[in-house]
Amino acid sequence: MIISKLPTVGTTIFTTMSQLAAETGALNLSQGFPDFNAPQGLLDAVGRHVGAGHNQYSPMTGLPALRQQVVAKIARSYGATVDPDTEVTITPGATAAIFCAIQAVIRNGDEVIVFDPCYDSYVPSVELAGGRCVRVQLNLQGFALDFERIKAALSPRTRMIILNTPHNPTGALISRAELDQLAELIRDRDIYLLSDEVYEHLVFDGAAHVSVLAHKELYARAFVISSFGKTYHVTGWKTGYVVAPPDLTAELRKVHQYVNFCCVTPLQFALADFMADHPEHVDELPGFYQAKRDLFCDLLAPSRFTFTRVAGTYFQLVDYSRIRPDLDDVAMSLWMTREHGVASIPISVFYQNPPKEQRLVRLCFAKREETLRHAAEKLCVI
Ligand SMILES: Cc1ncc(COP(=O)(O)O)c(C=O)c1O
Repeated sequence: MIISKLPTVGTTIFTTMSQLAAETGALNLSQGFPDFNAPQGLLDAVGRHVGAGHNQYSPMTGLPALRQQVVAKIARSYGATVDPDTEVTITPGATAAIFCAIQAVIRNGDEVIVFDPCYDSYVPSVELAGGRCVRVQLNLQGFALDFERIKAALSPRTRMIILNTPHNPTGALISRAELDQLAELIRDRDIYLLSDEVYEHLVFDGAAHVSVLAHKELYARAFVISSFGKTYHVTGWKTGYVVAPPDLTAELRKVHQYVNFCCVTPLQFALADFMADHPEHVDELPGFYQAKRDLFCDLLAPSRFTFTRVAGTYFQLVDYSRIRPDLDDVAMSLWMTREHGVASIPISVFYQNPPKEQRLVRLCFAKREETLRHAAEKLCVI
């Protein structure tokens, strides 16, 4: 008999909903990925590098040219200086980065504070390292950090806090004042920070992303993680990176070299070329995605869903209390997919203890205008 190391883990809702969307022919606004292609220059660069024979292992830490581009992007975006050789590691997606960072520092019996709701890979990564997650609920209004609850959750065993800004699934942003407050709270404690910033360039309405990279005190104890998949519309490339101070990077690489060793070489070459040629790509992303958010929200305005436009990410939460208050959100997502042809994600799956009264589903608007119009037509008649 197998005694599972992850007894509560099954197939994720993302797989389930994407499969159901495919089976029923529903529009898939569940899993977060664009239905449009990456910039042509980036796609062409892959072919060029494959043809040029860049098809063997890259350095374990990542292609030097790509690490250099990450450093340049960080300097441009946040005015922070990091060293490409000792602080930047390219990983096969942010998920692998999260896993390796957690394995590098979490031991048996350590506690890790994660926020409820949170992205689904954090908890199993902590549990596989022998740690225990302490779930701290975000404020129901606006999904901000609740410092009273964080204080109450801290213990001598707390070894890490996992932040995610912009936040999946709610789109909430963490402010500079909140980072300062967090820094004060953990100043004299031996606690690492993992800051998941994969949506760092998807921030709207003129707001700026507040990166832990730009917070010197917090960065000294942090792994900051991002994903080329989100920024360059290539989620299927599963390429991301971790930025951390040299001592933490050294520990992270001890795990990374045996879990992943390195990432797909021609993809790293292509990303490095494209980033060098198009530094403006990241500056244009907020406007690009804000237009999609606004189009989708304008189209949904006459519907019976209620919502507040998200501040970041490419997900819009919508409240369905006026439509089917009798259904919990999993039942609602299944019903919407089967009966109304639009697949979504119920947000209870991001919680340990979902609030019973909550009636929210998440819709991904990283889609072509035609898809958003089509989906909104269906959602407006529910
Ligand atoms: C908050 C968050 N972190 C990490 C990831 C994983 O990124 P990647 O596809 O680069 O592994 C995702 C993807 O959906 C995400 O939403």
